[in-house]
Amino acid sequence: MSIVSAKEMMFEAAEGKYAVGAFNITNIIQMEAVVETAIEKRAPLIIQASVTPSKFLGPKVIAAVYRTLAETAPIPICLHLDHSTSVDFCKECADAGYTNLMIDASKQEYEENIRQTREVVDYCHSLGALSVEGELGTVSGVEDQVVVAEDEAQLCSPAQAVDFVERTGVDIFAPAIGTAHGVYKTKNPKVDFERLGEINQILNGNGIKTPLVVHGGTGLSKEYAIKLVEMGGAKFNVSTELKHSMIDAVYTYISANRDEYNPGKIDIAIKAAIRGTVGRWIDILGSAGKA
Ligand code: 13P
Repeated sequence: MSIVSAKEMMFEAAEGKYAVGAFNITNIIQMEAVVETAIEKRAPLIIQASVTPSKFLGPKVIAAVYRTLAETAPIPICLHLDHSTSVDFCKECADAGYTNLMIDASKQEYEENIRQTREVVDYCHSLGALSVEGELGTVSGVEDQVVVAEDEAQLCSPAQAVDFVERTGVDIFAPAIGTAHGVYKTKNPKVDFERLGEINQILNGNGIKTPLVVHGGTGLSKEYAIKLVEMGGAKFNVSTELKHSMIDAVYTYISANRDEYNPGKIDIAIKAAIRGTVGRWIDILGSAGKA
């Protein structure tokens, strides 16, 4: 029950008008902190690992830690591979035990995006209850190995979204709507809320079929996040902010304790910082108490 795909929990989120927090981790301490916070908040959880940390620790190690933590957790938890541009790596992570795989072929030509996404969907569905996330349009900024310049970013067309979802069979869908990976340059970034609402209406207006994902959570205000959830965002990704929380915590701790050599205390400081960030987002997204 605790080891689930993203699709299952996102259906409930879309129906209940809240979003599941999807938090990127780069190591095991962060993964533990994210899980502990979600348990405390009784919130469904998506743990995300991008390609670099997945390769650094190895998909089997990440999946084994996830399964160990999730098996005994009283909440549903999904392990998601974030922004893989490689079909083969998606397959490797699916084999290792990830429960949601994102193939990001959004920089490819449209037909090639469909072909690669379809291949991952077919493979993952043949393995059982795994779900697949696809992306259409491009999200600007940097997320791991995926770099998109601002002038390269393209918003998702609602008509094409329907065609993409139908032809690929993706379980959950990330339309580019103007949010960006990394830190926003302005407090009020240009986010196309109406576009998200329109896509949601077309895909899910007659009952939830393909729940929607919002990328680029870091730096969005509470008001923006709430509006994105209202417009249909059922999975809300936060990555950069967790990295900042962790690195700031390490820097602060070491600066204040320069003569100490106790790595365990640094881990405690990291956990406290991550828990603060994750707890704040869970409250904003309305997922507390939903598990
Ligand atoms: P941020 O790094 O901007 O929070 O974006 C996270 C994300 O969308 C991961 O896929």
